[in-house]
Amino acid sequence: MSQSVISAKSVYKIFKLGEERVIALNGVSLEIGAGEFVAIVGTSGSGKSTLLNMLAGLDRPTKGEIVIAGKHIEKLSEGELVRFRRENVGFIFQAYDLLSQLDAIENVALPLSFKGVSRPVRTRAAIELLKKMGLEKYMKHKPTEMSGGQQQRVGIARALVVKPKIIFADEPTGNLDTKTTIEVLHILQDVVHNEGNTLVMVTHDKHLASYADRRVHILDGEIVLED
Ligand SMILES: Nc1ncnc2c1ncn2[C@@H]1O[C@H](COP(=O)(O)OP(=O)(O)OP(=O)(O)O)[C@@H](O)[C@H]1O
Ligand SMILES: [Mg+2]
Repeated sequence: MSQSVISAKSVYKIFKLGEERVIALNGVSLEIGAGEFVAIVGTSGSGKSTLLNMLAGLDRPTKGEIVIAGKHIEKLSEGELVRFRRENVGFIFQAYDLLSQLDAIENVALPLSFKGVSRPVRTRAAIELLKKMGLEKYMKHKPTEMSGGQQQRVGIARALVVKPKIIFADEPTGNLDTKTTIEVLHILQDVVHNEGNTLVMVTHDKHLASYADRRVHILDGEIVLED
């Protein structure tokens, strides 16, 4: 494997619900290499999202070590964690929460405006990505004027526009029909293989997982197989 960008060592996550303790991650160790597309596969409740949240620095483990792009996540303060995510990480979620009053270009360009990129430059970047997503006809459409699959692709473009080194996706095609799902997976595959990003995708679907370079199977908070 190429140099690893994410490394998890003996990671435990225990949720306390009153008297009850839920062991969501039970000693997970995992290495993800730069430029890899890795799928985390498992049934509902197996711990996929919990693991993704740890690997993305969205949450800290109860015990264990997470190193992302050379940084020890468990040692960062809340503020440092926010800054770290903003600079290194992109997220694609099932709910794409686009802003309803903005058109596709403006939605995609938005993260660049937070970074202080000038309007012409961010508009150009957004247009280029939307074309890549096959949305050239929908540049001026607002979210309500697009299908679910089109909105999902706008959401993906928005996640990619800042050129994150590492992209995390939790069931990114959850609401899409089969045809659009396959399209979206091809786009994600392309991004990883052509731009050299690293992609970690959670799915319960074995077929979708087959699009990844490597699969990590999780059951009851433990990795049971890697293939
Ligand atoms: N914030 C929380 N508080 C308490 N328990 C939690 C919390 N988050 C997750 N869990 C529990 O941890 C276990 C793993 O949950 P997780 O969300 O990681 O599963 P998942 O594999 O993503 O499932 P799904 O496919 O349904 O999204 C489950 O038993 C869940 O109930
Ligand atoms: Mg989940």
